[in-house]
Amino acid sequence: MQKAIGVLTSGGDAPGMNAAVRAVTRAAIRKGYKVYGIQRGYNGLINGEIVELGVRDVSDIIQRGGTILYTARCLEFKEESGLQKATQKCRELNVEGIVVIGGDGSFRGAGDLSARGVPCIGLPGTIDNDIACTDYTIGYDTAMNTAIEMVDKLRDTSQSHDRCSVVEVMGRNAGWIALNVAVATGAIACLVPEKPVDLTAVAEKIKKAHETQKEHFIVIVAEGCGDSKKIADDIAALSGIDTRLTVLGHVQRGGMPTLRDRVVASQMGYHAVELLSRGASNRVVGMKDNKIVDFDIQEALAMSKPFDDELYRVCNEITF
Ligand code: ADP
Ligand code: F6P
Repeated sequence: MQKAIGVLTSGGDAPGMNAAVRAVTRAAIRKGYKVYGIQRGYNGLINGEIVELGVRDVSDIIQRGGTILYTARCLEFKEESGLQKATQKCRELNVEGIVVIGGDGSFRGAGDLSARGVPCIGLPGTIDNDIACTDYTIGYDTAMNTAIEMVDKLRDTSQSHDRCSVVEVMGRNAGWIALNVAVATGAIACLVPEKPVDLTAVAEKIKKAHETQKEHFIVIVAEGCGDSKKIADDIAALSGIDTRLTVLGHVQRGGMPTLRDRVVASQMGYHAVELLSRGASNRVVGMKDNKIVDFDIQEALAMSKPFDDELYRVCNEITF
């Protein structure tokens, strides 16, 4: 029986996942593997939603957002019975390994499968950039570029009305998207969960800038900071400036992946297949100092990622 590799996307989708699926498929076929696309995350392994991927099945997807394999959060996989069914399916398919594209939760699942004798390699796919073992996650750049495009549009209307625009961006419990978007859009303030939120200080900054003829204000708030509506209302009350809230939401997850996401996804997908073909298991691929690296899954999950204090300082010091 021909040896095979499986690939799946899991958790929230991220632009560039398709580029990773393509790279995994092409690299694996080049090495003589059969490739199975497992649909809807770990659900596909449990329910047998699996399609064979040939070279041309992954044509014309490098530029597409979302994931052609669909994605899902599969609760059954966290149960012993679900894990057993998934392991059994892998044996039936004679897979030599599975590439799991997703976030920390997906990697935990990949660790469980690896422990059952199904070698797994995780690729960091999430717009949040909240995976500790890597400087960069697939989808992050596209999401931030989408967000700055939206904020630039908001600036036009905000300026015309002398208003403050409070903009909530995604990131789950992390402020990476918020911080970079704030710098790139010249926001007067950036609120992130990693730092204390002081709305009185934000309002004072806005008032001072208003006194020096600044007419409009952008405040970027990471979703992890809590109730954005209340934050916007408090800023309005404390500053006396007419304020509107915009929640960018899932628009940040869609769209054509940027060059960076396509390239990193391709490099990481290729590396994952290299690892599997060398007999590796239970690894996560990451990027450190612009180099593709890999780590043991449990070690990767135990790592922490320091916030970019220097960029946060720059953000605060060049807007007033
Ligand atoms: P992400 O991978 O983006 O962090 P989730 O936390 O939703 O997203 O996890 C995606 C999927 O990974 C879950 O639906 C589940 O199937 C699997 N998973 C999550 N956490 C675990 C866990 N602790 N053990 C095993 N599998 C898990
Ligand atoms: O992890 C990606 C992400 O988009 C987060 O930024 C956000 O908190 C979450 O997923 C939203 O998840 P859902 O698609 O379930 O609404």
